[in-house]
Amino acid sequence: MSKQGGNGHITVATSASGTEPLALIELPARALGPKDIRVRVRAIGVNPVDWKMRSGGPLRFAHRFVGPSGQLVVGVDFAGEVVEQGAEADLPVGARVVGATDFSRKQLGSYANEVVVRDDQCATLPNAVSFEDAACLPVPGATALRALELAGLPTSGKAPDVRVLVLGAAGGVGLVTLQIARVLGMKAAGVCSTRNTALVEKLGAASIDYTKGDALEAAAAHGPYDLILNVVGSEIYSTSRARTLLTDKGSVVLAVVRPADVPALLFSSRVKHVLGRPFRQNLEPLVGWLATRDLEPLIEATFPLAEAEKAHVLSKGGKVVGKLLLLP
Ligand SMILES: NC(=O)c1ccc[n+]([C@@H]2O[C@H](COP(=O)([O-])OP(=O)(O)OC[C@H]3O[C@@H](n4cnc5c(N)ncnc54)[C@H](OP(=O)(O)O)[C@@H]3O)[C@@H](O)[C@H]2O)c1
Repeated sequence: MSKQGGNGHITVATSASGTEPLALIELPARALGPKDIRVRVRAIGVNPVDWKMRSGGPLRFAHRFVGPSGQLVVGVDFAGEVVEQGAEADLPVGARVVGATDFSRKQLGSYANEVVVRDDQCATLPNAVSFEDAACLPVPGATALRALELAGLPTSGKAPDVRVLVLGAAGGVGLVTLQIARVLGMKAAGVCSTRNTALVEKLGAASIDYTKGDALEAAAAHGPYDLILNVVGSEIYSTSRARTLLTDKGSVVLAVVRPADVPALLFSSRVKHVLGRPFRQNLEPLVGWLATRDLEPLIEATFPLAEAEKAHVLSKGGKVVGKLLLLP
C-alpha cells in the first residue's frame, strides 16, 4: 500500500506539436507502481536534450517507440521532496532527493510540478545541499562520470597522472567535468571563448581560448590526454585531429554524434559515444561532492516553469555558462 495521495492532477510545461512555445497544462496524476515514488519537484535542470527532443532526433524517435503515450513532456533532471512512497520503494515521504526521469520506463519528463519515478533513479540529498544546486547535476554529472569510465579512468580516489581535455568547457557538462577532474586530482584543460577563460582557470584547469587560434594545436601543449571529451561536435573539433593528442591508451569521447562520426565509432576502439544516464549509483558520488562543495554548480539564470520557453531559447543559443534552472 502506498503512503499519501497526489492531488489528482499535475501541471506540466509542454508543446502540442513540439514547435509551438511550451505552455502549462494540467494532466491527470499518475498512479504509483510498487517501486515508485512521487516527488514534488522544487527545481528542474535544463539540458539541451530537452529542446532537441521537441524537434525530432534519435531520442524523440526512441520516445515514440518506448516512451509513454500521449502528450510529450520533456525534461530529465529534477530535485524535490518525496510526497508518496510505493509499497516496495525505499525512499520515505519527506526525503529530499535529486533524480532523473526515464522515458524508457514510460515516465513523463521533469518539466512538471510532480514526477513519478522508480526509487533507483534518485539519491537522497543532505539538508546542506539546495534543490537548485542538485538539479544542475544529474545529466551533466552522469555524462562526465561515464566519459571517464569509457576512457578506462577512475571515478574515485586520486589519479594525478591522468590528463583530461574538455572541448566545450564552459557549459553544463564541461564545468562539471572540470570540477570532477579536480576532485580526482587529474590535470585538466578546457577549451572555451575569451569570456570564460578565467572561470576555467578558477577550476584549476588550463584554459584554451578558441577565439585566439587553433584550439587543438594550442591544446597539444598541455597533453597528451587520457580523455578528450568533445561536447561541441566533430565538425568544430575534428576527431581525427583530436586523436593525435591522445596517450597510447587514451580515448576521444563524443557527447554529440554527427553522421560523419559513425565510421570512427564503429571501427576505432579509441573513439566512443557517451550517453549519460543518471541513476542512484552515479548520483550518490555527485551528491557527496556537492555536500563537500567540491562541486559548485554555476547557475546562469532561473525561470518559473511557466517560462520554460525562454530557457529553451537561451539554451539553443549555445552560449549558456553553467546551467539554466526552472522552478515549478
Ligand atoms: N550524450 C549525452 O549523454 C549528452 C549528455 C549531456 C549533453 N550532451 C550534449 O552535449 C552538448 C553540450 O551540452 P551542455 O549541457 O554542456 O550544453 P550547454 O551548457 O548549452 O553548452 C554551452 C556552452 O558551450 C560552449 N561553446 C559553444 N561553442 C563552443 C566552441 N566552439 N568551443 C568550445 N565551447 C563552445 C559555450 O561556451 P563559450 O561561450 O566559451 O563558447 C557555452 O558556455 C549538447 O549538444 C548536449 O545535447 C550529450
